[in-house]
Parts: sequence; C-alpha cells; structure tokens
Amino acid sequence: MQRVLIAPSILAADSSRLADEVRQIEQAGADWIHCDIMDGHFVDNISFGPGMVATVRKLTSLPLDVHLMIQHPDHYLPRFVDAGANSITVHVEPESEHAVGKTLRQIRDAGCRAGLTLNPATPFELLEPFLGQLDLLLIMTVHPGFGGQSFRAEQMEKVRQAKNWKTKNNPSLDLEVDGGINPETAKISIENGANVLVAGTSIFKSKDYAAEIRALRGE
Ligand code: DX5
Ligand code: ZN
Repeated sequence: MQRVLIAPSILAADSSRLADEVRQIEQAGADWIHCDIMDGHFVDNISFGPGMVATVRKLTSLPLDVHLMIQHPDHYLPRFVDAGANSITVHVEPESEHAVGKTLRQIRDAGCRAGLTLNPATPFELLEPFLGQLDLLLIMTVHPGFGGQSFRAEQMEKVRQAKNWKTKNNPSLDLEVDGGINPETAKISIENGANVLVAGTSIFKSKDYAAEIRALRGE
C-alpha cells in the first residue's frame, strides 16, 4: 500500500499570513503544497500567478504541485518552472488551447514532473493518448474554479480506470484527487486508488492542521 500524500491547497490559506500558514502546514505533516493557478478564462475565477509561487518557494522546501487552470499553459509554464515548481499539471480540455503532448514534453524537459488533469464532464478516454507521458494524473472531483465545493463521488469511476492503467503500465504514477476532499471523501478516494489528496477547506478551516492531515490519511 503506497503512503498517502497530502497536498494542502494554499488557495484556502489566509494569504495575509502566508508565511505562517506555509510554516504551519509543513510542521503539520504536509507532503506537497498545491498551488491553484486560475486565469479567469479557462475557469471563472482569478487566483494568483508565478510571483506567488516564487514566494512560497522561498518559504518551504516541500515540493510545489502547480495546477494550471489557464489557457495557453505552454506559453506561461516557463515562468512557473523559474518560480520553483516541482510538478506542473495542465488540463486536457481543448478549451485550454495547447498541444497537450508537446506541453507535457516541455514540462519534463524543464526538469519538472508532468501532470495531466480533466474536468468532471470530460471522459477518461481523452487522457489515454497521453498516459505514457505522465508522472502525475489528477482526477478533478469538483468542476475547477473554486474551493469549498462538494465532492463528486461519480468521479471515482475515473480513479478506478486510472488505477487499473497504473497497475498494468506504471506503478510509480501518482494518482491525485482534488476538490471537496475531507476525511470522509478521502477514505472513499483512497479505497478507489488515489494516493495523493489535495485539500483546501478541510485543512485551512480546521482548528488543528496536524490532526486534520492525520485524519485525511486515515490515521
Ligand atoms: C479547484 C481547485 C482545488 C481547490 C480545493 O478548482 O483546483 O485545488 O482549491 O479546495 P477544496 O479542498 O476546498 O475543495
Ligand atoms: Zn487544484
């Protein structure tokens, strides 16, 4: 059984105390830090850019897991590489307007781990041509754009499909879920095959970050 990795999403953190928040989640046992990049075009919200990622880079040595919910990620990704990203995940939907295979090569050539993700409405089949190019596969369990949404259990079908592919083809592939993850939905996600859990609200709105992270891991 792979150890379950926890990636708090700093979108839910109190940005007025960012340095404190990052230090606290690192001490609380976080494995990665999830950075949600939204451009107001691919998703109906605007979050932050490479500057904020560079700031978090200075605050921690934890891996930075950058989730690009933007159009033309291939154009902007060098800035996230320079900012200190360790893994960069792009969307497969045509609305993100990039050549997916080429972008994934660009990410790996830049020395980062390559991630691919899909929205709840997107069929798993759209990913299949690219599965061999991945270090990380992210199954969205909410429609991207906002934290605090409810978990969509029907997406577990895709997690099972991904787990099957991973078992047969690449056991070191990280299988991540993102959106509405709390101790209850974390348990469901792990049972279906996920080994990396992104959580924003459940961690940053909790009173005890360490206890919440242990609960997400099912400890
Ligand atoms: C949503 C983002 C998620 C979100 C998670 O588009 O990709 O990472 O911030 O937040 P919670 O855990 O609150 O659903
Ligand atoms: Zn995310």
